[in-house]
Amino acid sequence: MSASTPGTALITGASSGIGATYADRLAKRGYDLLLVARDVTRLNALAEKLSAEQGIKVDVLPSDLTKREDVRKVEQRLRADEAITLLVNNAGIGPKGTLLEDDIDYLETMIELNVIAANRLAVAAAQTFAERGRGAVINIASVVAFIPERFNGTYSATKAFVLNLTHALNAEAGPKGVKFQAVLPGLTRTEIFERVGGSFDRFPPSMVMDVTDMVDAALAGFDQEELITIPSLPEVADFDAFTAARHSLGPNLSHDKPAVRYGISKS
Ligand SMILES: NC(=O)c1ccc[n+]([C@@H]2O[C@H](COP(=O)([O-])OP(=O)(O)OC[C@H]3O[C@@H](n4cnc5c(N)ncnc54)[C@H](OP(=O)(O)O)[C@@H]3O)[C@@H](O)[C@H]2O)c1
Repeated sequence: MSASTPGTALITGASSGIGATYADRLAKRGYDLLLVARDVTRLNALAEKLSAEQGIKVDVLPSDLTKREDVRKVEQRLRADEAITLLVNNAGIGPKGTLLEDDIDYLETMIELNVIAANRLAVAAAQTFAERGRGAVINIASVVAFIPERFNGTYSATKAFVLNLTHALNAEAGPKGVKFQAVLPGLTRTEIFERVGGSFDRFPPSMVMDVTDMVDAALAGFDQEELITIPSLPEVADFDAFTAARHSLGPNLSHDKPAVRYGISKS
C-alpha cells in the first residue's frame, strides 16, 4: 500500500446484495479488495469485473463463515496482511419467519454467522488496527436492533449485538486511531428474503430501499465519520435524543440499594 492508495478492503458476504455493492463502490474509491463468501463462481466473476473496470487488485477467499475453521482462516489473513485497512463485516442471513415459526437449528446457524463470526472478525480487526494505529471497521447491523417486538427476535438480537459491539469497540479502540461505523439499514432490496423462501413483496415499496442508495448513503455517513448510520432516518436529532436518553440512565444503573418502589429496605 502506498500513501496514495487507501489499501485493501476485506468484505464478507461480498457475493451479493449489500456486500457486492460495497465491493463496487470501494473499488471505485481505489481500494484493492479481498472478497469473502461461499459462492466461488460469483466471487470470481465479481473479482474479474472489478479488477478489469477499475484496475485494482482483487483476491477472493471462499469461506463458509458458519464454520469456525473458515472464520479463523479469514481472521489469520486479516491479522497478517498489512495491506488490509478496512473490514466490511457484512455477511449475514435473515429469518425464515417469526420466532414461533422458525426452525431453532437454523436460528443457531444465524447466531454462528451474524454473531460468532462477526464478533471474531470485528475484534480481530480492532486489535490488529489498534496496534497499527490506523484502520476502519464497518459493521452491518440493522434498524431491527431498535424494534425487537416487531421482527424475529433472534435476528434482531444478532443485530443489537453488532450495534453494542460497535459502541464498545469504538470506545476502546477509537482513541487508538481505529475508525468504526455501524450501519443500520432498513429493508433493502437484496436476496436476503429469497434465500429463505420469502420476498420483499409483503412490504410496502415505500419501505424498501434500493441497495445502491443504501450503500451510497452509508458510505457518505462513513465519510462524515458517523459512528451509527441509519440511512432511512430523516432527522438525526431523533437518534441523538434516543442516545441522550440512554446515557441519562448511566448514573443510576448500579447502586448498593434496590429502588424504593421494590419496598426492600434494610435499616
Ligand atoms: N437486505 C436487508 O433488508 C437488510 C437490512 C438490514 C441489514 N441487513 C444485513 O445486511 C447484510 C447483507 O445482507 P444482504 O441483504 O446483502 O443479503 P444477501 O444478498 O443475501 O447477501 C448475503 C451475503 O452473505 C453471504 N453469506 C451467507 N451465508 C454465508 C456463510 N455461511 N458464510 C459466508 N458468507 C455467507 C452471501 O454469500 P454466499 O451465499 O456466497 O456465501 C452473501 O454474499 C446481512 O448482515 C444482513 O443481516 C440486510
